[in-house]
Amino acid sequence: MRNYSIAVIPGDGIGKDVLDVGLATMRGAQEVCGDFKIEFQTFPWSCGYYLEHGQMMPDNATQTLRQFDAIYLGACGFPSLVPDHISLWGLLLPIRKEFDLYVNQRPARLLPGLTGPLRDKTTNDINFVCLRENTEGGYSGVGGRVHRTTDHEVAVESMIFTRRGVERIIRYAFELARHEGRKRVTSVTKSNAMGHSMVFWDEVFEIVAAEYADIQSDKIHVDAMTARMVRFPEQLDVVVAENLFGDILTDLAAAIQGSMGLAASANINPERTAPSLFEPVHGSAPDIAGKGIANPIASVWAASMMLDFIGERDAGKLLMRGIERLTGEGRVLTTDIGGTAKTHEVGDELVRLIKSAG
Ligand code: NAD
Ligand code: IPM
Ligand code: MN
Repeated sequence: MRNYSIAVIPGDGIGKDVLDVGLATMRGAQEVCGDFKIEFQTFPWSCGYYLEHGQMMPDNATQTLRQFDAIYLGACGFPSLVPDHISLWGLLLPIRKEFDLYVNQRPARLLPGLTGPLRDKTTNDINFVCLRENTEGGYSGVGGRVHRTTDHEVAVESMIFTRRGVERIIRYAFELARHEGRKRVTSVTKSNAMGHSMVFWDEVFEIVAAEYADIQSDKIHVDAMTARMVRFPEQLDVVVAENLFGDILTDLAAAIQGSMGLAASANINPERTAPSLFEPVHGSAPDIAGKGIANPIASVWAASMMLDFIGERDAGKLLMRGIERLTGEGRVLTTDIGGTAKTHEVGDELVRLIKSAG
């Protein structure tokens, strides 16, 4: 029997609802496979925790998390309780940095049976992977404010690009292309306006691309990329972008799949010097929190990526096939993708599909 331990952080808003479904599907897959066991330990770190303790997680939280094989997160942030920059810089962002989770892998696929908002685009047209740099760039955290409240107040937020940081995410993109049999890596830039950082990014991209003669490469400015993603998503295969560009583009990628509730995210430390973190792309969705209608597919997809990452590929496939059968059949879907089902009803159906596949 192979044994694993996973830290579960439901977090805020719809986080718990969607993770409950992810946990149920993993337990279902575990039952079907029968040759591995995962122990889940839940941590209450969230905005609610902040209101009680004055911090999003305890001082030794990352030490605690290091002992796990992976981290499964729901959503962090609930701005009516705690300002977002406090909650996010108190939980998710420090984990990404301290654990050096420099790859943020976000697949974008139109699932079978769904019609996204793009007329005439099929499951063949929308099928790409975004690799978002996850530790520096626009999220360096370097900056400050001076002369507060005066009319000469200054706010600085510096984007940081290091050769090591840029090279390793671009190299990961080419390696992933090779590994997944994909043909092209597209680099997102803005070197027409950002003549220091993005020109540097382009140079590093060219150097790395030259090592992968078997993979095509091209680059596109981020503004043009938003239009390409909507008009010609079939031209995208592997996309690599700095942190902030990647953040923005992956909400757009979720939208063209049909809903925020469908997009999964793996924050990976490829060298495995610390646990990787798996979560949906979406946040706590305060507008629908507590209604029981959140789409759990993104969190189940993230769980599938987590199972793949820890080495339980058969179980990961069971979850992914479950999702594909669910959308393909189209009987039990949440309202964001045209159904009437509640989160837990989708969960029950997914578990049934997973068990019946086994
Ligand atoms: P959001 O992703 O929470 O919501 C955007 C829209 O998508 C909302 O209309 C919401 O109802 C919808 N939506 C999101 N998830 C859905 C789901 N599973 N099913 C159906 N509809 C869904 O983005 P936001 O409103 O900008 O952020 C809310 C809070 O979450 C903020 O505090 C933000 O900082 C935080 N946030 C956290 C994460 C994370 O923890 N990884 C990611 C994004 C935003
Ligand atoms: C995401 C989220 C986070 C980000 C926020 C909540 C800090 O939007 O994971 O996409 O910007 O990285
Ligand atoms: Mn985001």
